[in-house]
Parts: sequence; structure tokens; C-alpha cells
Amino acid sequence: MRFIDVVMRRHKEGLVGMTYTLANYLARYNITVNCVVPGRIMESPSELDFAREKQSLILPLGRIGSTAEVVISNTKRIMRPQKAIREAMFKKGIRWVRNMATTAQQLSSERARFPFQLSDEIIKRVGKRMDGATTWRITHPNGTDVLGKIGDVPTPGSGIKRYGERRGEGNNRPFPQGCHNPVSSKEANGVFVLEHTLPMQAKYVGVPLTRFDKPVKVFVENNRMVRFEGGLEAKRLRRFYESLAPQVGDDVWSVCGFHAGISPKARVYESRERFPEAWVEGPHNSSRMVHCHLGAPTTREHDYPFMTHLSCFLGEGATVYIDGEKLYDEGHFTFLDDPETRKLAAQYGDPDTLLSEVTLQA
Ligand SMILES: [Fe+2]
Repeated sequence: MRFIDVVMRRHKEGLVGMTYTLANYLARYNITVNCVVPGRIMESPSELDFAREKQSLILPLGRIGSTAEVVISNTKRIMRPQKAIREAMFKKGIRWVRNMATTAQQLSSERARFPFQLSDEIIKRVGKRMDGATTWRITHPNGTDVLGKIGDVPTPGSGIKRYGERRGEGNNRPFPQGCHNPVSSKEANGVFVLEHTLPMQAKYVGVPLTRFDKPVKVFVENNRMVRFEGGLEAKRLRRFYESLAPQVGDDVWSVCGFHAGISPKARVYESRERFPEAWVEGPHNSSRMVHCHLGAPTTREHDYPFMTHLSCFLGEGATVYIDGEKLYDEGHFTFLDDPETRKLAAQYGDPDTLLSEVTLQA
């Protein structure tokens, strides 16, 4: 063993120990402390020969890691401004493992500990239902009632080729898993009543980060948003789409599609006011929550830093019909009751425990 390896190991152990100590001490102030401790990483091109010589002998991966992998694999969002990075990394075969659990509570939660293969399989099987279906309908006690047809292919830009596909096989691999693959829409008619959008987008649109003061009603005709009703938020949403129209065209008014959480264990641990970005992981991934994508699929070049559709949330209690059959029933993910799902879950533990839905608020 080289002296440098001994030193590196000591440094890493010290780093982990320091992280535990700081995390214990700072938890009382709601401050989390995390560290990344990668394996051997190539420091410069001059290491290349050494790396080639040794890699197949000593490293489980068969090669030395790159600095890019350390940064990218631990990054939740590589959005529009970093598009070139994402494309370069996919070209090199580097997967993007999106860390969706960014606080200590989330990382140690039942959601993060839910078997990844099981959530991946649930996503695939829900998608297969979509692959063979024709119509969708979403209703909610808040007045939402929209009926549409399922688009032929998943939303362009979603990174999947069909609905019944495992996220764990693609380039974009969220961990832990959150939603089923987004379903694209056509010929939708009705009205969505919306409570909030994603905090990261809300600040660009100019609406409250976590809850609209007044729900926004979006009227839809033939898959196009035709009217917005509500308070200031309704005006700002309309203005947001108007501002994008010169760049992305008429598609900006379309109902891109919808999807819902598949995790029976997703919870809210954070204050929505103090930690909106972390808080939204609960509503986004919970099997009790449905959200729609309103706006253009991400197919055209544009200056806006995020996607050109907004993720808009309906609140708990939505019912989703696929070809007239309830996939979500007043906020309950009926797929979890399916005998096939229970049989599958039994491979990983007690199905009653694994598949029982927790309340959104911890
Ligand atoms: Fe979404």
C-alpha cells in the first residue's frame, strides 16, 4: 500500500467522523451536514497510465472514477443552464443519479429505504397500463374535472421511450423513486384547480413558492389552456406562458400531461415556509398526490432555465381514471392493492408494511 493511500484513508475517516459530530451538534438548529466520500478518483491526465495499468486489478468497478462523476452523480438538478454537461455525460455513458432526498430526515426515511427494485417495478407496471390505454380523466373535490386521451409516446424530453420502462435503466435515475413516468395528453377538455407549483419554478413565475393565495382555475379546451381564473397567481401564470410564447410557439398553451407519486412512504418533514425545496419532495412523490404538466414539452431551444411546462399540484384527494378504471381513488393509489403488486412486494418484505400508505404530514 502506498503512503498516499494510507493518508487518504485517514483523511476520509476523519471527514466521516467530523460529519457525524457536526450533524449531531447542528441537528438542534435544523441544519444538516453531509459528506461525499468517493473511491479513487483520477486527479490529472498524467495518472492515466497508472490508472490503466492498475484499474482491472484492484478496483471493483474496473476503472478509476472521474471528478465529473463525483459532482454529477450527487446533483439533483442539471437543468437548462447545464444542458451541455448533461449531454456530455450521457455521451460518455455516465448515469445521472439524482439525489431526491436532500435532508437527513429524507435520507433516513422509509421512502429512501423502500426497495429501489420494487419502486422501479411499480413504475414499469403502471406504465404498462398506460401503454395499453386510451383515455385519462382526473377529478378532485376542489372542482378539477379533466378528460383527455393518452398521447402515443411519452412526453418528448422525458428521457423514456415508452411508459412501461424502468427508470433504473435510463440515463436519468432518480433516487429514491418518486413518480410514475409522465403521461402525455391530447384532446383534453375540462378544468384544473391548482394549489401550487414547484418552488424552483414559482420564483421565476412570480407566485408564492408553496401555496397559491387563491387556487388557480385553468380551463382547457381541445388540449389547450384557454382561460385562467383566480387571484394574482392566475394573472402571473398566464403572463408566464405569454412570455415564453415568442420562443416556444403555440405549444406553450398545451396540456403537456400528468403524473402522480408512487411512493406510499413519501412524507413531508420540513416546514413548507422555511424549506420549500425540501418540503416539495413530499407532495411530489407521495402516492396520495397528482400533478399535471401545463405548457410545452421541452423540444425547442429557449432561454428559460427550467422546463417550459409547469408542474401544478391539485392537493390530496384526486381520482385518476385510466380507461374508466381508478388508478388513484380519492388520493389512494389503488395499484398498491393489486394482488400482483402484493405478490411482488412479498419478495422484499411484508406487503402490508411495505405497501401501506403513510399520511403526508409526519
Ligand atoms: Fe412532474
